[in-house]
Amino acid sequence: MPGAIYAEGLVKTFGDVRALDGVDLDVPEGTVLGLLGPNGAGKTTAVRCLTTLLRPDSGRAVVAGIDVVRNPDAVRRSVGLSGQFAAVDEYLTGRENLQMVGQLYQMKAKAAKARAGELLEQFHLAGAGDRPAKTYSGGMRRRLDLAAALVVSPPVMFMDEPTTGLDPRNRQQLWEVIKQLVSGGTTLLLTTQYLEEADHLAHDIAVVDHGRVIARGTSDQLKARTGGERVEVVVHEREHLTTASEVLHGFGKGEVALDEHIRRLTVPVTGGAKLLAEVIRELDSRGIEIDDIGLRRPTLDDVFLSLTGHVAEEETAEGAEDTSAEGGSGTDSARSTRRKEATK
Ligand SMILES: Nc1ncnc2c1ncn2[C@@H]1O[C@H](COP(=O)(O)OP(=O)(O)O)[C@@H](O)[C@H]1O
Ligand SMILES: [Mg+2]
Repeated sequence: MPGAIYAEGLVKTFGDVRALDGVDLDVPEGTVLGLLGPNGAGKTTAVRCLTTLLRPDSGRAVVAGIDVVRNPDAVRRSVGLSGQFAAVDEYLTGRENLQMVGQLYQMKAKAAKARAGELLEQFHLAGAGDRPAKTYSGGMRRRLDLAAALVVSPPVMFMDEPTTGLDPRNRQQLWEVIKQLVSGGTTLLLTTQYLEEADHLAHDIAVVDHGRVIARGTSDQLKARTGGERVEVVVHEREHLTTASEVLHGFGKGEVALDEHIRRLTVPVTGGAKLLAEVIRELDSRGIEIDDIGLRRPTLDDVFLSLTGHVAEEETAEGAEDTSAEGGSGTDSARSTRRKEATK
């Protein structure tokens, strides 16, 4: 039996661009699928097709047991969408926004009001509930957007990059809310550019690139494919790069990646902290001065590099816009959230 979200051979083109190039998905009821991919991979297009906002050129999709092309209205009643571009009316208060959604779903005014109150509490927005949404910070806006998607407690939820551009604290808060939500049995498809986010929230991950699913599995399976942990070293002297590279090659399980400009070397390893200590001793015995060394898990970049041979693309204007919505608190990239155990 197909899962709560099911897609087979989904294709969607925009002129010459094949945004979706035959996507297959199957998300069992009550589980979370993380759709992981760089900007332009086709994540939003997939979400828009699955939530009936776009009609696929070909292929089939069934959500909550309903065919999205044949019966879009019924699908819309069964899904919640919280997205990169989901609409929060700037001039309405948080409370009014939520009530309006309830009424769009034909709730009685009184019920919509009660539900709005509940959600404001749950999303830590009670204090700001009667202020216009345009006064909200980026994090508050995301929470309101998520709350709006939950007004009618849909059995199937879609979230399109719910935390892109949020600072770590707001991201953590949102993760907690999402975890609570799925513990109640909701089926969720979540798109993200962050392996770490998929790691926290998703049972299964599908990696998309150029409109195709290029890998799927649990987070551990993907990381294992990517070669486990990395040792990353920044040497003090540029002249030491070659020797350091030889040392790392001896300890590593794959190619040594070199960034000459910042004198950084990275190599996949197995063996954790013990191995790290050995690397430090070896570098030291060869007289190589180290500015920084650490062990980290693979990032989205590593997964991409290993799966596709190219790195995940840089942030586009879209990502930058999201960041500025947070009041310039800075981009929290997969790179900066990585675990780094600097050793002295
Ligand atoms: N409405 C549209 N018109 C033209 N091209 C589009 C449209 N929507 C998306 N695309 C293109 O389709 C590809 C996939 O985009 P999208 O699904 O937004 O990717 P993602 O959400 O993974 O960043 C990109 O090349 C994008 O430029
Ligand atoms: Mg997108």
